[in-house]
Amino acid sequence: MKLTQSADRISLNQDQTAPTIPPAQIAEREAKSIFQTYTRQPIYIVRGEGAEVWDASGRMYLDFVAGIAVNNLGHCHPRVVQAIQKQAQILIHTSNLYYTENQVLLAEELKQLTGMDRVFFGNSGAEGVEAAIKLARRATGKAGLVAAVGSFHGRTLGALGATYKSAYREPFRPLNEASFVPYGDFEALKSAVTRNIGAVILEPVQGEAGVHVPPPQFLKAARQICDDAGSMLIFDEVQTGFGRTGRWFGKEHSGIEPDIMSLAKGIAGGLPMGAMLARGDAAAAFQRGDHASTFGGSPLVAAASLASLQAIRDERLVERSELLGSYLRSQLEKLDPIQVRGLGLMVGLDLKASASEVVSLARERGLLLNATGDHTLRLVPPLVVSQEQIDRGVQILGDILSI
Ligand SMILES: Cc1ncc(COP(=O)(O)O)c(C=O)c1O
Repeated sequence: MKLTQSADRISLNQDQTAPTIPPAQIAEREAKSIFQTYTRQPIYIVRGEGAEVWDASGRMYLDFVAGIAVNNLGHCHPRVVQAIQKQAQILIHTSNLYYTENQVLLAEELKQLTGMDRVFFGNSGAEGVEAAIKLARRATGKAGLVAAVGSFHGRTLGALGATYKSAYREPFRPLNEASFVPYGDFEALKSAVTRNIGAVILEPVQGEAGVHVPPPQFLKAARQICDDAGSMLIFDEVQTGFGRTGRWFGKEHSGIEPDIMSLAKGIAGGLPMGAMLARGDAAAAFQRGDHASTFGGSPLVAAASLASLQAIRDERLVERSELLGSYLRSQLEKLDPIQVRGLGLMVGLDLKASASEVVSLARERGLLLNATGDHTLRLVPPLVVSQEQIDRGVQILGDILSI
C-alpha cells in the first residue's frame, strides 16, 4: 500500500459518516472489548454540529448534554476545527522537554482571564484536581482535605478521595479521604477546617450533585475560614468554567479568589485538556520535578483551546449563557417541576417523575438529557444553542411530563 493512500483514506472518512461497525453490532462489540464501567444510552452517535448530533441511522438529536458540559462551543465549531487542522499539519506533540509557543500563549490568556499567576497543563478534569491537591500539600505541608457533601472531583485516587459518593470510594480504599461538610453550611466548614487541613476543595456550583448554587456568602466564608487556618482554598471549576454559569468562571459570582483552580471540560472546544492554576504563595510552591505530564499542553490541544477562547469572546457566549440560561429556567418553571436551579446554562431540575424514564422518553423524541439523580435532570446545552432549540427542547420535555 502506498503512503498516499492513507491520506486519501483520511479525506474520505471526513466526508462520510456511515460507520464501519453496523449499528446492530456496536453494543455487543463494545461489551466484548471495553471495560464495562459505563452505563451507555442506546444511541450510536456519528456526527455533531452546533447543538445537534446524528446517530448511525441518520436521526438527529438536540443535545442538552453537550459531552457532559464540554461542548460549550457546540459540536465541531468551525474555528476549532480549522485551528486543529492547521496545527495538525505543523506540530502535534513534542512533550514538555521543549518549549512550544501555543502552550505559553494559552497560559498567558488563562492567567489574564482568571487572575491567577501560573498554570500547569494536564489532560482531564481529574488531572487538574490531582495537581491542585498535590500543590496544596506542597504549599502547606498538610495532607488533610475538606470537601462538600455531593461533591464530584473525579475518579483518580486523589480526586476520588474528595468525591462524596461513597459507592465510588468504597471499593478503592485506602484513599486520602476528605471530611465532607454540607455544601453551604458555614459552621460545619469552620469546625472541619482544623490546623491539619491543607485544602478545602469546592465547586462554585455543584454539577454532578444536580446543579446546586451555594447560599450567598458561603464561598466568601470559606475564603475567610481557609485564611484563618492557613489552608488553601481550591475551586474546582472543571464544570463551571468557560462561560457555563453566565460568567467566564463560577468564582466571579462569589466575588472572592481561590488560591488554586482546576479547569477542564470546556477549555479546548472538545479536545481533552485539563489545567491547574494558582496564585500567590501557592503559585510558587511547585519545584522542578514536582509534577509532570507527557501530553499536557500539547501544541495541538493548546491551538484548539486558543481558538475556542477567541470564539467564546467573539461570539459573546458568556453573555449568551446568562441570557439563554435565564430564558431556559423561566420556560422550565412553566412545566411545574418541583424545583429549577442554576446559573447561566448550567441548570438542574427536580421532578416528581423518574429522571431515567424521562431521559429515555426524551431520547426517543430526539432530545438528549442527563439524569444526575433518581428525580433530577441536569441540562447543560452548548452555549451556542439557539432560542428556537431551547423552545424545542422544553416542548419535548413538557410533552413527556404531561403524559
Ligand atoms: C467539578 C468536576 N471536577 C472534576 C471532574 C472530573 O473530570 P474528568 O472526567 O475530565 O476527569 C468533573 C467531571 O464531571 C467535574 O464535574
